[in-house]
Amino acid sequence: MWKLCELLLVWASFLAAEVSGADRHSRHDFPSDFVFGAGTSAYQVEGAANEDGRTPSIFDTYAHSGLTHGANGDVACDQYHKYKEDVQLMVETGLEAYRFSISWSRLIPNGRGPVNPKGLQYYNHLIDELISHGVQPHVTLHHADLPQALEDEYGGWINRKIVKDFTVYAEVCFREFGDRIRHWTTFNEANVFVLAGYDSGILPPQRCSFPFGLVNCSQGNSSIEPYLAAHNILLAHASAARTYKNIYQERQKGYIGFNIFAYHFSPFTNSTEDIIATQRAYDFYFGWLADPLVYGDYPETMKKNAGPRIPSFTPLESKLVKGSFDFLGINFYDAVKVMDNSRSLDVTLRDYQADTALELKFQQKNSSLFELKPWALQGVLEYIKQTYGNPPIYIHENGQMMPRNATLEDVPRVELLQGYIGALLDSLRNGSNARGYFTWSFMDVFELLDGYDSGFGLYYVDLDDPDLKRYPKHSAHWYSQFLKGGRVDLGSESSIELRQNLTTISPSTVIE
Ligand SMILES: *[C@@H]1O[C@H](CO)[C@@H](O)[C@H](O)[C@H]1NC(C)=O
Ligand SMILES: *[C@@H]1O[C@H](CO)[C@@H](O)[C@H](O)[C@H]1NC(C)=O
Ligand SMILES: *[C@@H]1O[C@H](CO)[C@@H](O)[C@H](O)[C@H]1NC(C)=O
Ligand SMILES: *[C@@H]1O[C@H](CO)[C@@H](O)[C@H](O)[C@H]1NC(C)=O
Ligand SMILES: *[C@@H]1O[C@H](CO)[C@@H](O)[C@H](O)[C@H]1NC(C)=O
Ligand SMILES: *[C@@H]1O[C@H](CO)[C@@H](O)[C@H](O)[C@H]1NC(C)=O
Ligand SMILES: *[C@@H]1O[C@H](CO)[C@@H](O)[C@H](O)[C@H]1NC(C)=O
Repeated sequence: MWKLCELLLVWASFLAAEVSGADRHSRHDFPSDFVFGAGTSAYQVEGAANEDGRTPSIFDTYAHSGLTHGANGDVACDQYHKYKEDVQLMVETGLEAYRFSISWSRLIPNGRGPVNPKGLQYYNHLIDELISHGVQPHVTLHHADLPQALEDEYGGWINRKIVKDFTVYAEVCFREFGDRIRHWTTFNEANVFVLAGYDSGILPPQRCSFPFGLVNCSQGNSSIEPYLAAHNILLAHASAARTYKNIYQERQKGYIGFNIFAYHFSPFTNSTEDIIATQRAYDFYFGWLADPLVYGDYPETMKKNAGPRIPSFTPLESKLVKGSFDFLGINFYDAVKVMDNSRSLDVTLRDYQADTALELKFQQKNSSLFELKPWALQGVLEYIKQTYGNPPIYIHENGQMMPRNATLEDVPRVELLQGYIGALLDSLRNGSNARGYFTWSFMDVFELLDGYDSGFGLYYVDLDDPDLKRYPKHSAHWYSQFLKGGRVDLGSESSIELRQNLTTISPSTVIE
């Protein structure tokens, strides 16, 4: 009896806290066609890397090179075999959409040629399972996982031949799956892929050249390849988008977009140099891809600093790339201060990094947590609105990194989610054309750089369990409550604590 009284007391104060606050938001404050989901990518979650005809991608090669703390994605979360269970968890969480990627080398082993029936079957099953449970599939075509065969054969993204092969792969996807897919994204964070893959060499396909790489690469040229790869990616995107728009869009009624990683930039000091440098940072890191897509050419500052090393668009190419998207996907995690470093232009042989003439000042952190910076997400959305004519935006990734073995009570992740969802609502109300929000990631996946040491997931996956059992973290409960229409406090820590206590007592009582 006493226990029951205590529970009622807590419940009463919980309700009191619910109605008294000023800035409480719920799912219902967002437009009904705004979409909330969570994401993963093929190599990071599927496993079954060598099963049913799949061949390795550059992500497999990288993961087996030892850079990811000895871990790899051969098994990962085994979603290839456990997709039904995972879709069930999505339904329980109340996810409206699932962002995943298709493994090119599973669908078309070796990158070109015959389609693998087993690959086709897997994605058909996954998509059908999602749709029949009311979860929208949002599909990415390239998430750092080019078929290794194409990398070996002609250098992958640094060769113009990739444009044709990518277009054929994309068309197979439109033809086979497009009757059920409304949202296609050709590339995941193309800017990070190119910089880390071709300048510093720390991510697949690990190309770089001395003295620019952060690792010793066996091949590459940091002075020219980042520009070349980005150029071919834009042309491949434009070609795939044209195929979609010309042949499939009217019938399938979907949308095609491109994803860019976005930092918020602000000047390190108030000097004129740093203020100009901040615009240059947006040009180099975001405008590099967004300017061609919106205006048909690279930013002037890039053409000036990179000179002949950055390819030019022919008038026809410019016309094809310009406007070749229905939405932009944004991966947002952090803000960075920018300092002018014009001296880096003094040397003749430069890499992309030196061409920027910038020094990025990442915040000194004493933990691996991302700090919540609501103003930074709003700043990025405002920048896109003002610079690019307010195109439709999906936040494709945003999340909190924590050590994988940390507690299931992932309060910092809950704080980050609720803070950024609140910031997004403020941006929407101020005119941003944001259409959706996906947290990274649905479950703890095989992460770039540190394998299984850290995780971003709403669900923990027990890697010591042969069955890889999934466990909801506090963030899964919180997101579920938000998505199911509960009013969610966007500020007070005590409410999180309270919610946590209530969740421990009885998860079902917290859902309004
Ligand atoms: C690259 O290799 C050289 C010589 O083997 C070595 O001295 C250097 O430390 C290596 N650099 C990196 C970043 O691993
Ligand atoms: C990279 O390309 C530039 C421009 O073509 C050339 O000058 C330089 O020697 C190349 N570097 C390497 C390491 O091949
Ligand atoms: C720049 O100036 C603004 C307005 O005077 C001030 O608020 C801000 O702190 C200054 N920033 C730095 C880094 O000095
Ligand atoms: C470092 O962590 C401590 C304790 O968590 C915190 O009080 C302090 O503000 C942090 N310092 C910085 C620079 O973030
Ligand atoms: C988590 O893992 C790290 C590194 O792998 C280790 O140092 C730490 O003790 C572990 N913590 C727990 C709670 O197991
Ligand atoms: C709201 O939008 C206006 C017009 O674009 C802009 O001037 C203002 O800075 C925005 N406010 C915020 C907080 O982003
Ligand atoms: C949550 O539970 C802890 C430990 O049982 C307690 O110390 C704390 O006061 C509780 N928080 C709230 C807001 O009830």
